[in-house]
Parts: sequence; C-alpha cells; structure tokens
Amino acid sequence: MTKHYITFRDLSADEYEHIFMRTKKLKAERLRGQYHRPHLGGRSVGLVFAKPSTRTRISFDCAIRELGGNCLVMNLGDSQISRGEPPSHTARVLSRYLCGLVYRTYFEAELLELAKYSTMPIVNALTNEQHPCQVLTDVFTFIEHLDKKPLEKQLVAWVGDGHNMANTWLEAAAVLGFGLNLACPEGYEPNAEIFKKAVNDNPRIKLTHSPAEAVAGAGAVNTDVFASMDQTAESEKRLKDFQGFQVDSALMAKAAPGAIFMHCLPAHPGEEVTDEVLESPASVIFDEAENRLHAQKALLEYLIAPL
Ligand code: CP
Ligand code: NVA
Repeated sequence: MTKHYITFRDLSADEYEHIFMRTKKLKAERLRGQYHRPHLGGRSVGLVFAKPSTRTRISFDCAIRELGGNCLVMNLGDSQISRGEPPSHTARVLSRYLCGLVYRTYFEAELLELAKYSTMPIVNALTNEQHPCQVLTDVFTFIEHLDKKPLEKQLVAWVGDGHNMANTWLEAAAVLGFGLNLACPEGYEPNAEIFKKAVNDNPRIKLTHSPAEAVAGAGAVNTDVFASMDQTAESEKRLKDFQGFQVDSALMAKAAPGAIFMHCLPAHPGEEVTDEVLESPASVIFDEAENRLHAQKALLEYLIAPL
C-alpha cells in the first residue's frame, strides 16, 4: 500500500516519533561530514512547483541527492498538467519513472487526485490548505530546544493568519497532543472543519483574537506573512486588517521565559514581525530552514525506503 504525505494527519504519533529520531540521527551524521546515504539507490524523485519556492525546492533537492537518489524539478507551467492533462494520467505516467513525487500547488484536491492513481508516494510541498513538511520540521526544531522536556506538556502560540501554516499546526496539535493557542484577526480564522476536528481530538487548542492572550505562557511563538502566495491581491487590505498582530519584543516578553520565535520564512520584516525579534537570540528561523533538509530526508526514507 503506497503511503502518501498530504496532510499532517497522514502519519501517527508513533510514526512521527520514528521520523524525529531519524531526523536527529541524519542531522548528526551530516554535521560529522557523513552526507551520503544509499537509501534511494539511484532512484529518482520528482519535484513539481506551481508556486515559487526557495527552501522547499533546494532542501528537497539536496535531501534526495544526499540519500543517493536523482532529483528532477519541473515548474507546473512547463508541464502538460498546466494544459489540462488529467492528474489521473499524470500520476500513472510519473509512477512509471519515479519513486516519489513532491508537489506544490494551490488546492489539496489536486494532490488527493494524484494520490488516488499514484503507486509512488505523493508529498505535499505546500497547498493553500496545508504545509505539512514545514510543520513536521518546526515541531522537530521545537523539540530540539526543549532539551528533553516532553512536547505534550508544551504550549505553542500562533499569531496571525489562519491559513495553510495555522491549519497544519492545528493538525499537529491534534496528532501530537501539545497545547496550541491561536490568535487571528476576525475573518482570518483557520479552516473551520480542520479546527473543529482538531479541538475534538485535543481540548487544549484555543482560538482568540488577542495576540497577548495567545502568547501568555507559550514556549514557542509562531507567525507567517499576512498575505500568502495565493493572497497577494489582498496584500493592502490585509496590512490594515492585521494591525495589532505584529510579533514584537513586547509580545515575546509575554511568552514563557526562554520562549523561541518561529517563522517558516520567507518573512516580511516590519510587517508580521519586527527585525528585532527576527534577529533576537530567541529566533530559531534559520534552524527551521536547515532542519527542512534533515526532516525531509527522514520523511523520504520512511515513505520510500523504510529501514
Ligand atoms: N518555508 C517554505 O516553504 O519556503 P519556500 O516557499 O521558500 O519553499
Ligand atoms: N503561508 C505562506 C507560507 C510560505 C512558505 C504561503 O503560503 O505563501
């Protein structure tokens, strides 16, 4: 049975424990200079992008090569998918060449359709609804900073737009059991269905319109741009509607002592977060970016070539 990774809920808490353990090991090996592992044995993984990317594209490319595979990158606009070839055909064609497909697009429904027909794992590289590879990495990054304190006792704060990143943090809290406070402006709350299901699984999830309330006592404070890649037409309106939702040093001071600041990047310094916070010792933004590489190696290994 082919295993896909389209939403955070596609893996269980036990599977995450295994992936986090492997991420830690692969990171330590790479830091010792042991880059090349033979897991993919010369097989090829495809990366398809319908939206821009820096981190996802480069970190997956490095991960695949360092796992002994070949990486093939295609912009969706250069493919026949953009000219209307049915995903059901594309999935079956690409399954004849590749051992995995990492795909960034607008709507999750497209990934689900590919997955229905694919005999290779489909990995969500971001949709309007979800960004599971990023949150998988961010949870690992938070665990690194917890210094063996249990994750399920922690409180994470989300300040800002209830879009793909917030939706995925909700699923992560549901699967892994940590507390999650979200503060979103009115009208910018997360997906109602994802929220309802997550609260049902984890009563320690709370939604408010007050950033100060959300960050109180949190061990990690997270944010994202006010206007995501699929929302650039709304940028000006969002700048106004998100007033009061900037993460600054005064807001960070309300979090738990030693709290970290997280951002998936790219950031718009001076909008959703101040430069002071981005550059502060609490900021782990570049650890998050680095950990994409290690966590995605562990994910691909698990999906494609389990040990
Ligand atoms: N965080 C993230 O996914 O970055 P890119 O858009 O650069 O891939
Ligand atoms: N919410 C952002 C995340 C970018 C990695 C976007 O979708 O543009």
